[in-house]
Amino acid sequence: MKKFYLTTPIYYVNNVPHVGHAYTTLAADVIARYYRFKLGKENVFFITGTDEHGANVAQAAAKHDKSPKEYADIVAPRFMEAWKLLNIRYDFFHRTTDPRHEKIVQEVLSKIYKKGYIYEGIYEGWYCIGCEKFLNITDLVDGKCPLHPTREPVFQKEKNYFLKLKELSKIILKKIKEKEYVILPLKRHNEIVNRLKQGVDDISISRAGVSWGIPVPWDPNQTIYVWIDALLFYYTSIKFLSNHNRFWPPDLQLMAKDILWFHSVIWQAILIALNEKLPKTIFAHGFFTIDGQKMSKSLGNIISPEQLVNKYGVDGARYLLLTAYEFGNDGDLSLSKFTSSYNADLANGLGNLVSRVAKLCETSGFVHEISRRSRKFNKTLATSLEKFNFDKALGYIWKSDINWGLKWLDQEINENKPWQITDKKLLYLKLNLYVENILDIAYNLQPFLPQTAEKIFKQFEEHNIKSQPPLFPRIS
Ligand code: MSP
Repeated sequence: MKKFYLTTPIYYVNNVPHVGHAYTTLAADVIARYYRFKLGKENVFFITGTDEHGANVAQAAAKHDKSPKEYADIVAPRFMEAWKLLNIRYDFFHRTTDPRHEKIVQEVLSKIYKKGYIYEGIYEGWYCIGCEKFLNITDLVDGKCPLHPTREPVFQKEKNYFLKLKELSKIILKKIKEKEYVILPLKRHNEIVNRLKQGVDDISISRAGVSWGIPVPWDPNQTIYVWIDALLFYYTSIKFLSNHNRFWPPDLQLMAKDILWFHSVIWQAILIALNEKLPKTIFAHGFFTIDGQKMSKSLGNIISPEQLVNKYGVDGARYLLLTAYEFGNDGDLSLSKFTSSYNADLANGLGNLVSRVAKLCETSGFVHEISRRSRKFNKTLATSLEKFNFDKALGYIWKSDINWGLKWLDQEINENKPWQITDKKLLYLKLNLYVENILDIAYNLQPFLPQTAEKIFKQFEEHNIKSQPPLFPRIS
C-alpha cells in the first residue's frame, strides 16, 4: 500500500515560534493535506516537533531562571498553539526530551559504535552556540559567525567521539549519484555534491562540556551532540509508536537551506551506518528577509504567526505565505505587500466572486440540483503541488482562463451578464455552471485554504444558495 511520511525540522525551544518556522510547517501541512486526499488519511504520517537539548536551549533557560526542561515545557506548547492557530494538522508532535526518544537515540548510537563507525578523538575549534556547530576558520567573518554576529564563537578543545563521515561520505556521494535519494531543488543538489567532492572530515558527535543532552551510553561523561539527537527524531517516533514501521523511510523531508548539509549528508551517514533505508526526497527551500532585512530580535522585525492570523485571518495568512515568492528560492516578506495581495486576491478576488455568484443565485430564485459527481484535483494544480510549487498551483486557480478558475469565471459573468438573461432555462444553465465552478475551486483549495473551502461547500452545497458575510473582509 502507498504511504507518505513527511517531516519538518524540529525547532529549537530557545525561541518562540516565528513566521520562519511557520513557513516550513505550513508548506508541510499543505502537502500532507493533499496526500491525505490522494492516499487516504491513514496512509499519511506528518510529524513536526521541538529540539530541546543543547547549549543553546540551556543558555536560554538559564536567562529565564528555569531549568532547561522547565523552559522546554513552557516553549514547546507555544509551537503547538501556533500550529493550531494556522490550522496545521500534524499527525504527531515530537519532543526530543521524550524518554522514548532518548532511549532509542542511545540504542542507535551504541549500535553504530559497535559497528566501528564511531571512535574517540580530540576536537579543537571554534564553536557557535547559535548554530550548535563547529565552524571552520574560513566560515568566520571578522572572527564571528555570519549567522550569529552578536554571539562570540567559543574556542573549544575537548575529548569527543567522532563519526567516520569521511568514509561514509563516499557511499553518500554514490547514493546521490544513483538517485537513491534526491536533493531538491537542483541547485542545492549541486551545492551538496560539490562540497562532498571537495572532501569532508569526520565529525564530532558528542560533547564533553554540554550537560543538557542525552548521555553517551558507553561514556556518561559526554552527551550526544544535539544535532545527532535531533536528526534521529525522524526515526525514533516511527520506532516507538505502534504500527508505524511501515512508514519508514521518509518520503519527503522539508527544511530551509540553512540545515540542508545536516540533512543531506550527516543524517544519511547515520542511516547508512545503521543500515536503514534512506529518505526519498530532501527539499530545502530558501530563506526570506523581512522588508529586505534579516529577521532578528535586535532589529525588532520578527513576525509571529499570531500577528499574521490576527490581521489576515487563518486562510489569509496561509495564502499570503504560500504565494509570497516561489517555494525553493530566497525571497522577501513585507506586511504592506501582504495587505495589498490580501485585498486584491482574497477580498476583491475570491471573496467578491463567491458573494457575486451567491447573490445571483439568491435573487434569481435559482434552485441548485446538488451534483453527485465526485470532484478531483485539477491535474495542472496537482502536478505543481507535487513539485512543491505552491505559488504556481494557487496561481492556476486564480489566473488560469481556460474554462476554469477565478479569472475565467469572472470574465464569463461579466460577458454574459446573467442579471439580464430572461430565458429561465439559459439562466439556470449559466448559474449551475458558475456554482459547479465555485465548488470545483473550493475542492482544489482544500489543501491550501481548508476553512475557506469548507465555508464555500457549506454555502453552495445547498438547494437554496444564500448570500453570506464576506469570506475576506477588506482591510487597510
Ligand atoms: N533545531 C534545528 C533543526 C533540527 S532538525 C533535525 C534548527 N532549528 S531552528 O529553530 O533554527 O529552525 C530552522 C528552520 O526554521 C529552517 O530550516 C526553516 O525551516 C525555518 N526558518 C527559520 N527562519 C527562516 C527564514 N527566515 N526563512 C525561511 N525559513 C526559516 O535549525
